[in-house]
Amino acid sequence: MNSIEIVSMGRCVPQRILTNDDLSKMVDTNDEWIVTRTGIHQRHIVDEGMTNADIATQAARDALDRASVDPNTLAAIIVATFTPDMFVPTVSATVHDRLGLNPATLALDLNGACCGFIYAMRTAQGLLALNPDKPILVVASEAVSSVLDFTDRSTCVLFGDGAAAAVVRSSDTPSWFVAGTRGRTDAISCPAHYAGDKPGIGMKGQEVFRFACTSIERSIRDLLKQSGLALGDIEHVVCHQANGRIISHVIKHLGADPAQFFMDVGEYGNTSAASIPLALADMDYQGLLHRGDRVLMTGFGAGLCEGGMLLTW
Ligand code: ACO
Repeated sequence: MNSIEIVSMGRCVPQRILTNDDLSKMVDTNDEWIVTRTGIHQRHIVDEGMTNADIATQAARDALDRASVDPNTLAAIIVATFTPDMFVPTVSATVHDRLGLNPATLALDLNGACCGFIYAMRTAQGLLALNPDKPILVVASEAVSSVLDFTDRSTCVLFGDGAAAAVVRSSDTPSWFVAGTRGRTDAISCPAHYAGDKPGIGMKGQEVFRFACTSIERSIRDLLKQSGLALGDIEHVVCHQANGRIISHVIKHLGADPAQFFMDVGEYGNTSAASIPLALADMDYQGLLHRGDRVLMTGFGAGLCEGGMLLTW
């Protein structure tokens, strides 16, 4: 069976921080409401003129610097995003160009909403089956602030910008994936425009909340069933960081150990596709991940889509 492993992680978080108090000067909200409902304290936002490709390139460079692989040997660069700067050129083509990658390296963007990183890893696993000797660079990068309506308090407080990247390669150690799309295309939407004079992200919050809780649990159970493992065998669970309350609800419902579940939504808000790899990069930098650890990841988002992956660090 062909499997995938992560060689190194990289990340790029924009320096500009928007606190809850900053937002309360823009819309009718307050720190107490946002923290109580979401666990979010702040989010990072790209500066004027800074693009998705800028942060994607920095995250990619960081991951490559940390990997002992020659960038010229990359078979592909895949960028998961729903907030590209342009329809074309793709973010991946721009990053490919800026890094001066080998012309034979495939550059591909993938929009899997908040499951983007999981779906990009799944795609990478398929490509690795065709060419097991060449590593792949998986990037997840979002400039969500570019599609947010900063007059809509129900959505603008939830999201943030950021990018993370993983150099991946074939592995002999098994990895498992689950994925699904469950209708309800009206629950979360974002029109394909960037003029900023029309509504941006729209969301039926409570419906998404309920879906998220059942979806995360379904992905965890399916991955455990596939792998024959128990939740107690997993060192780390990394859920899509949309709302701390969703993760706490899942922990309680599963009777799980909260120490297994990493959470950084308080610092970044919801960075969509970037949220899971950003968490992984932070865990890696903090020395929380050790070779041999089992890491289970779950995503959910617009579509409504869901997905998960279980691999060995
Ligand atoms: N500040 C203050 N009040 C607010 C704010 C705000 N930022 N936003 C909404 N309110 C008000 C509403 O207007 C409403 O007021 P009313 O009672 O007078 O009508 C009240 O707060 C309650 O609003 P609800 O929407 O019912 O609040 P809820 O408890 O459901 O929390 C939230 C909203 C945080 C969005 C929650 O539903 C949630 O987290 N849903 C899941 C969101 C999610 O996971 N999104 C990820 C999507 S996938 C992706 O990443 C793209």
